[in-house]
Amino acid sequence: MPRKLAAGNWKMNGTRDSLTEISALFDAAGGAAEVLICPPATLIQAAASAAQGVMIGAQDCHTEDKGAHTGDLSAPMLKDAGASHIITGHSERRADHGETDAVVRAKTEAVWAAGLVAILCIGETLEEREAGKTLDVLAEQMAGSVPDGVTGDQLVIAYEPVWAIGTGKVPNTDQIAEVHEFMRKKLTDRFGQAVADDVRLLYGGSVKASNAAEIFAVADVDGALVGGASLKAADFGPIVKALNASA
Ligand code: PGA
Repeated sequence: MPRKLAAGNWKMNGTRDSLTEISALFDAAGGAAEVLICPPATLIQAAASAAQGVMIGAQDCHTEDKGAHTGDLSAPMLKDAGASHIITGHSERRADHGETDAVVRAKTEAVWAAGLVAILCIGETLEEREAGKTLDVLAEQMAGSVPDGVTGDQLVIAYEPVWAIGTGKVPNTDQIAEVHEFMRKKLTDRFGQAVADDVRLLYGGSVKASNAAEIFAVADVDGALVGGASLKAADFGPIVKALNASA
């Protein structure tokens, strides 16, 4: 399994004419790092059939496989459309849709039951960081939203400080290192060293071509989850290349 992962989260952006941005990534892809784009669900099928060397994922799923849940999509449906990964617990889902750790855990289990990889997001708010509670908050989110039975090929965890998402603000490298070491230790305590070493830990929040190399040099950072800078191949390609160079 490749160790490094460059994942793009397009959020609620993109129509069919955006698919050329994925084909334009083919050059940057094909290095040591895996490359994943999570477009809006409307584009998964078209993106998956066009993509070469770029994996396609989804941004959310329901906890159930099927049923009377108007407007929702299940993990097996997203797999059927061509998704290989599903993001769970993004802070925008937690904030906009009231997703609790228990819901995130159930969604992550649904992703695994469909045979897909979950990219589970955790992160503190600015208020929590300023109150010195960052590690406590992350420990609680990990305890509540990471299911039992983790394996390294089914789980990726993304550390995304809420205050860094879409703001241009990024924690310093010492702060990123502290959190990533802490996450690895929590995984080791709960699942043992071998599993903990296999789970990839991404940093997310205002990653750009200009700061990517510095972030990728931090110990225990296995890649990035990128929002705004993943929308254009001209921005995301250099991030992928920086990750390839660090691999
Ligand atoms: P950003 O978003 O790169 O636009 O800050 C990151 C994310 O929310 O995954």
